[in-house]
Amino acid sequence: MDGILISSSILSADFSRLGEQIHEAEAGGVDWIHIDVMDGSFVPNITMGPFIVETCRRITKLPLDVHLMIEHPERHIEDFATAGATNLSIHIEDTPHIYRTIEHIQSLGCKAGVVLNPGTPANRLEAVAALMDYVLVMTVNPGYSGQQFIPVMVKKVAQVRQMLDAQGSNALIEVDGGITAETLPLVYQAGARLIVAATAIYKYPDGIAAGITALRRAVA
Ligand code: DX5
Ligand code: ZN
Repeated sequence: MDGILISSSILSADFSRLGEQIHEAEAGGVDWIHIDVMDGSFVPNITMGPFIVETCRRITKLPLDVHLMIEHPERHIEDFATAGATNLSIHIEDTPHIYRTIEHIQSLGCKAGVVLNPGTPANRLEAVAALMDYVLVMTVNPGYSGQQFIPVMVKKVAQVRQMLDAQGSNALIEVDGGITAETLPLVYQAGARLIVAATAIYKYPDGIAAGITALRRAVA
């Protein structure tokens, strides 16, 4: 089986010791650090901004996987790139000029990912398949960590993979929401290779490193 990259979402980390928690995830073998940016408008919750990205940049050398769940993401791309983002994921639902915004992200030296909410069909991506670097399929409604995985999203991951293959795109598929050792094999089978997890890592009963190991074992 080909490998997966695990992106640990700090949304479930203990922010009173964020540095330690990130170092623990790094020592446990996580590949990326996922940062969920929410504005209380595109999604109900309000979380973090460029300041936290810049803080994480000083804590770790791991790639920073920044997921923008904000209105007008195009207005903030430069701030996040300057703060040290490696990947910038933008939702197709709130980015009318998606082609231009992807190009803008890439011109700043970041990888550009396009995100689909659970209600958004796979074929919305067709026009940008050749341009984007990866796709992020939401497997919960964005806004919070600790939600239940939506099983019908497995089918969408497979549809996205099919569409990308038909367009000759090697873009990887990332999944985000409710990923555990039980749900991971389902999305892996469907074609996901970039795996985001918050609860299954930072709130794993036996600790962060054990949580990462459990995810890896699920598809070993
Ligand atoms: C949800 C966020 C996710 C969230 C995942 O809107 O995009 O990254 O932190 O949390 P879990 O893994 O607990 O579902
Ligand atoms: Zn996310």
